Amino acid sequence: MKTVVFHYSGTGNSLWSARVLAAKLDGAALRPLKGADVLAAGGADAVGFVFPVHMWGVPGPVKEFVERLALRPETYIFALAVNAGQVARTLIQLGEILAQRGLTLAAGYDIVLPSNYIPWGGPGPLEKRQARIEAARAKIAAAAEVIAAGERGPVEAGPWWQRLVFTALYRLSYNQVPRMDKDFWCDERCDSCGVCARVCPAANIELKKGRPEWRHHCEQCLACIQWCPREAIQFGKKTPATERYHHPEITLNDMLP
Ligand SMILES: Cc1cc2nc3c(=O)[nH]c(=O)nc-3n(C[C@H](O)[C@H](O)[C@H](O)COP(=O)(O)O)c2cc1C
Repeated sequence: MKTVVFHYSGTGNSLWSARVLAAKLDGAALRPLKGADVLAAGGADAVGFVFPVHMWGVPGPVKEFVERLALRPETYIFALAVNAGQVARTLIQLGEILAQRGLTLAAGYDIVLPSNYIPWGGPGPLEKRQARIEAARAKIAAAAEVIAAGERGPVEAGPWWQRLVFTALYRLSYNQVPRMDKDFWCDERCDSCGVCARVCPAANIELKKGRPEWRHHCEQCLACIQWCPREAIQFGKKTPATERYHHPEITLNDMLP
């Protein structure tokens, strides 16, 4: 069986999850979803999407990719929605996007890892983060058995109140995302290294006089703030005092295109 796993990731949690999964699926190819063309699945028998939950739903770039990727009706499709504890309706939404094309989400798993949403705080205590990583590793291994067998699995979702309240918030926020970069700023620690511009999957950052400027087509993945080697990038007021996060087994080099 030819399997392709597409991934999208701001701080490495989804990339790590995709790697753990692909390693358990014999000969699966891993591909970044950004920049992949419509034929990138190359007629694979099984196709997976591994991505972070953003604002209780499917991030815009993932939605657009799933809507245009060439897939056959019989393709076995699976997904991991990587999140910080509130998957809400994300995988149901992905199933609906596929269903509009006559395709089926055969299995969708809720994978909880440390939070990278720095505007709301840091990633939490180290032991708790490590516990989440180990639980995720075990859950992905169990999911891989279902996926490798080509079986129907669950399409996991959060409790009813998450699905109700947060789905409304997702709909309200979705179109605002590109301009949410107006709250980024950069402090005096910036040494013009340009990592922010290189790691941005949306090519949304330009260096002007050596300082980053955000161009309002942001995807809110938070790669710029989380990967800045000097912690010079800030978002709003709280981040100067907040710990940065990226997955401990993923390096900046892994993230660069
Ligand atoms: C803009 C944004 C919105 C987020 N919204 C949610 C959310 O609705 N529910 C949740 O559990 N986690 C949310 N998170 C946290 C991420 O989904 C989580 O940390 C994920 O593991 C990050 O994966 P990545 O490192 O592959 O980008 C959000 C993160 C960002 C940047």
